[in-house]
Amino acid sequence: MNYPGTPELSAAAWTAVGVARPHESAELHVLGQAAYTDDIPEVQGTLHAALGLSSKAHAKIVSVDLAPVRAMPGVVDVYTVADIPGTNDCGPIIHDDPILADGIVQYVGQPIFIVVADSHTNARRAARKAVIEYEELTPILTPQEAKAAQSYVLPPLHLKRGDCQAAFERAPHVVKGQLFVGGQEQFYLEGQIAYAIPKENKGMLVQCSTQHPSEMQHVVAHALGRHSHHVTVECRRMGGGFGGKESQSALWAASAAIAAAKSGRPVKLRADRDDDMMVTGKRHCFYYEYEVGYDDSGKILAAKVDMTLRAGFSADLSGPVATRAVCHFDNAYYLSDVDIRAGCGKTNTQSNTAFRGFGGPQGAIAIEYVIDEIARNLGRDPLDIRRQNFYGKEERNQTPYGQVIVDNVIGELTAELEQSSEYRARRKAIDDFNRSSPVLKKGLALTPVKFGIAFNVTHLNQAGALVHVYVDGSVLVNHGGTEMGQGINTKVMQVVAHELGLDLEHVRITATDTSKVANTSATAASTGADLNGKAAQDAARKVRQRLADFAAKLHGGEASGVQFHSNAVHVNGQSIPFPDLVQKAYLARVQLWSDGFYATPGLSWDPKTMSGHPFSYYAYGAAVSEVVVDTLTGEWKLLRADALYDAGQSLNPAIDIGQVEGAFIQGMGWLTTEQLWWNKAGRLMTHAPSTYKIPGISDCPEDFRVRLFENRNVEDSIHRSKAVGEPPLLLPFSVFFAIRDAISSVGGHKVNPPLNAPATSEEILRAIAAVEAAS
Ligand code: MTE
Ligand code: MOS
Repeated sequence: MNYPGTPELSAAAWTAVGVARPHESAELHVLGQAAYTDDIPEVQGTLHAALGLSSKAHAKIVSVDLAPVRAMPGVVDVYTVADIPGTNDCGPIIHDDPILADGIVQYVGQPIFIVVADSHTNARRAARKAVIEYEELTPILTPQEAKAAQSYVLPPLHLKRGDCQAAFERAPHVVKGQLFVGGQEQFYLEGQIAYAIPKENKGMLVQCSTQHPSEMQHVVAHALGRHSHHVTVECRRMGGGFGGKESQSALWAASAAIAAAKSGRPVKLRADRDDDMMVTGKRHCFYYEYEVGYDDSGKILAAKVDMTLRAGFSADLSGPVATRAVCHFDNAYYLSDVDIRAGCGKTNTQSNTAFRGFGGPQGAIAIEYVIDEIARNLGRDPLDIRRQNFYGKEERNQTPYGQVIVDNVIGELTAELEQSSEYRARRKAIDDFNRSSPVLKKGLALTPVKFGIAFNVTHLNQAGALVHVYVDGSVLVNHGGTEMGQGINTKVMQVVAHELGLDLEHVRITATDTSKVANTSATAASTGADLNGKAAQDAARKVRQRLADFAAKLHGGEASGVQFHSNAVHVNGQSIPFPDLVQKAYLARVQLWSDGFYATPGLSWDPKTMSGHPFSYYAYGAAVSEVVVDTLTGEWKLLRADALYDAGQSLNPAIDIGQVEGAFIQGMGWLTTEQLWWNKAGRLMTHAPSTYKIPGISDCPEDFRVRLFENRNVEDSIHRSKAVGEPPLLLPFSVFFAIRDAISSVGGHKVNPPLNAPATSEEILRAIAAVEAAS
């Protein structure tokens, strides 16, 4: 460390927040030196586990013969539901989620047994050898089938405001239809993995790739029939989570821990990509039936939507996902009279779960689809209809669930983007192009985003942190959030460095660990940096206060006048290098470490009436996309995308722009090429990158202009920043609607193309054919 040599900055100029900084692990990532769970050196005697999976979507298990599994080379043992010492459940909220199937299987891929062997390959080979006899039952596979059968994992949700019936009667026009939006595989690059190491006296250490170490701790403790204090869960980083490791890491953590407890040896369970995709839940696909009344100007008067989610075989996080969908159906629009229903259809498929946006994108895309139709029906530019319906500032500013919007910037933000993207000029140029181009058709769309930040469930909005200042002046931080590539650790380091007036190099963050910060919430709902940044700031401030008191005692002056900047403490006209003051404080027996805590104020939510003030604030954004579609093949290309995102006073613009770019491309994949396809027997056939197409670098637009909107959070968030993790996933709605716009040009923009998502080439051709038939 080089404190004395650091150039002196004035207090005003010194800042560690609000500046572009590389990800704290960027260098390690690039050099291949960042340690993921599978890189942790294995303890002697480690066994490797694999899961035996159901081959039927819905069946009674008549018999299981595991003798052929046991006979395979290297196999040490096999465990079934009868071997689970505690509770056979890994459901995060509703306890309907068995770790191992018990008498019945409910989807193809459901784990039935755990085999442990001397190597990963031997375990996987053996897992395929079980002879299982089933008595098949009829499966339900799609949300439409679930709706028809009234098969739900939870009671349906219903949010009503105003008088839809009366509003429909007043409405001069009504648009009515159905829409299907597919799900999405999280496709984290690092698959699910857990490594369980038995410790003395019933202890169990679980190293695992998870967004939710505390939940893993609870599930493992329950499965083993032990207490939480017996179980420690640790995660330094994930190679991506995207929601897929919020609850769904539990099955792997619990299975590894069960096998470790039974065998008395360390057990590693690392999912192969195909198994990972067959076993774990994904983004929920949605089926919508909508009916919307509007006037001649395109203003929406009444909106009715009934959404059915493909929940899969168990509840998992479907309830909260459906709630967020209901709370985001409005997107950026004031809807006076609404009737929104959401049913979590029980299907014999993987149990769907969190995925970036958590139902928000699925809620909002429905209203965007409707607005797109209204515009076409009225022969107007969709942007004008969008603007016509935007939330107001003083009036028309209350959401259907009752929260009054006080930070609305959607009008300014959209206006800025409309101008910087040259939307109107390009619209005209595209019309001209399409007139003279019979096969290739271009399309353009601008779509807005408003996204609520906080967990709907109030009590989850809390976080804790520890800040240790060591005697040499170096700082170690631990907080309850998890790093999945999004840069939470970089941001929290910046916050702590800023409080203590240190350069970033003097601060280090350690693995998330349930034995350090207890009872943490999942790093989810985009709240990670908001919550843990505040908690770490609280801890750092406590240490700083003690140091300021001590410095004032030592050198005179007021503690409140002591300043921390430029790696030094400035007191009563003197500047003392930070480590020197720390050294003296230690000798004087000043506590140099502290905990910190934060609970987001002002939140409330009543799940019965579906109303309250669930969000701390809203993040806003908008994007313009231009595509060209080949109307003979259904191929298309994104030519240019402009995105403007409101990160408030960004903590780290470099990381935030990276988040916007990543979310944009990920959301584009969801709406275009990523198709989950189950065959009639309920087997997911797209369970590897060979059949499931996520965007590659060549799918990114050559001209990609991502900017942050200049703003400041009106709420007292961490340094007035705003969350960035999920909301930009809604920006590529503009890609989907640009494709729809290009298709619609085939019929002279007179017919609404019936385009479902993902808009694969087949789907695009189907929509073109429908437009041609109707023209
Ligand atoms: N970015 C990367 N690189 N990897 C991820 O797994 N997950 C997203 C988002 N950005 C993710 C990511 C999701 S689903 C969420 S909820 C947020 O990051 C969580 O982190 P934050 O709350 O710290 O923003
Ligand atoms: Mo993000 S879907 O809330 O993990």
